[in-house]
Amino acid sequence: MASPVTDTRQRPLRDLRISVTDRCNLRCTYCMPREVFDRNFVFLPRPELLTFEEITRVARLFVQRGVRKFRLSGGEPLLRHRVENLIEMLAGIRTPDGAPVEIALTTNGVLLAKKAKVLKEAGLTRVTVSLDGLSDETFRRMSDSAVPVATVLAGIEAASTWGFAPVKVNTVVQRGVNEHEILPLVRHFRHTGVILRFIEFMDVGTTNGWRMDDVVPARDIISRVNEHHPIHPLDANYGGEVAKRWAFDDGAGEIGVIASVTQAFCDDCSRMRLSTDGKLYTCLFATQGVDLRDPLRHNADDEAIERLIVDTWSRRTDRYSAERHAATVRPEKRIEMSYIGG
Ligand code: GTP
Ligand code: 5AD
Ligand code: SF4
Ligand code: SF4
Repeated sequence: MASPVTDTRQRPLRDLRISVTDRCNLRCTYCMPREVFDRNFVFLPRPELLTFEEITRVARLFVQRGVRKFRLSGGEPLLRHRVENLIEMLAGIRTPDGAPVEIALTTNGVLLAKKAKVLKEAGLTRVTVSLDGLSDETFRRMSDSAVPVATVLAGIEAASTWGFAPVKVNTVVQRGVNEHEILPLVRHFRHTGVILRFIEFMDVGTTNGWRMDDVVPARDIISRVNEHHPIHPLDANYGGEVAKRWAFDDGAGEIGVIASVTQAFCDDCSRMRLSTDGKLYTCLFATQGVDLRDPLRHNADDEAIERLIVDTWSRRTDRYSAERHAATVRPEKRIEMSYIGG
């Protein structure tokens, strides 16, 4: 049996985030600003995308080497034609002990009400929905679209109805843009079983004009919530969990904060990322990936692919967020989140 692999900092490989498309039906200003991702932007042509067979083959080898969770992302993963077929194929993978692997999906929720049932039937285990505000005004401004919040809320409800509990909601907080949505969101999701998580705005990619001043530190978010709805910290569900968990004192459920800027969590980072076109990235802030598609399409055997995976992980040194403050020069050509997956 193949043994699990660790990197240069003894971090195990546990989590594979698979980006299935670089396209999206929204244009969040912090992720795919319309000035860049406009009509002239060239998205990956279809032949460049890994096929479902290729993804599944790679995913199976990752499980041999310790991965226990897949997360499908994008772009917007529900835009990938028949993504449920991929989920069904991934759901057939077993760990060396014969257990299934968790399959989660991060979506903007726009198509979720329509797709929740087929996703459940295909074997998806969990859903996380991105939502940056409860008012149409804020949501439209941040997503640069005409989609009403009600569409996303209907998606979240459908996910709960189809048994994806606990559904999580991710809110990226930008100073002066949607800070005023924090409390309405908290109130909306209390008592619903949905776990709301606030994410510090990150400097991913090079197009979103990130400045440290735009970040609302997680500790401020927590104290604002605590003033109105007292909360206390909870232990992590598992080692390396990115969100810090907090529970309402009155039993109304839990919230989380993802403090990737002010309290980096690189020390436990067990995530490898597979881009839509088949490159492996060992960090969200990586500048270069390792190509798997070419070997996959030129008859490499499983052993050769597994060797690439193991070599890539065992050489890994990344801890970008932990070093961000120390860095005087930031790499100029970081990849975009819509390409590598959140
Ligand atoms: P679960 O615990 O399984 O629900 O997954 P998760 O907490 O990893 O959730 P999710 O994948 O939705 O991650 C939430 C957000 O945290 C992402 O959208 C990113 O913004 C951020 N994030 C996740 N992984 C990393 C990472 O490795 N590095 C950094 N800097 N941010 C990350
Ligand atoms: N900073 C923090 N979170 C981001 N996301 C996308 N771009 C950024 C960024 N610059 C989040 C989205 C979604 C997930 C895929 O990643 O809001 O929840
Ligand atoms: Fe699309 Fe998600 Fe990026 Fe928004 S954050 S543009 S929904 S991929
Ligand atoms: Fe992992 Fe890189 Fe994020 Fe640190 S910055 S947690 S190493 S993906």
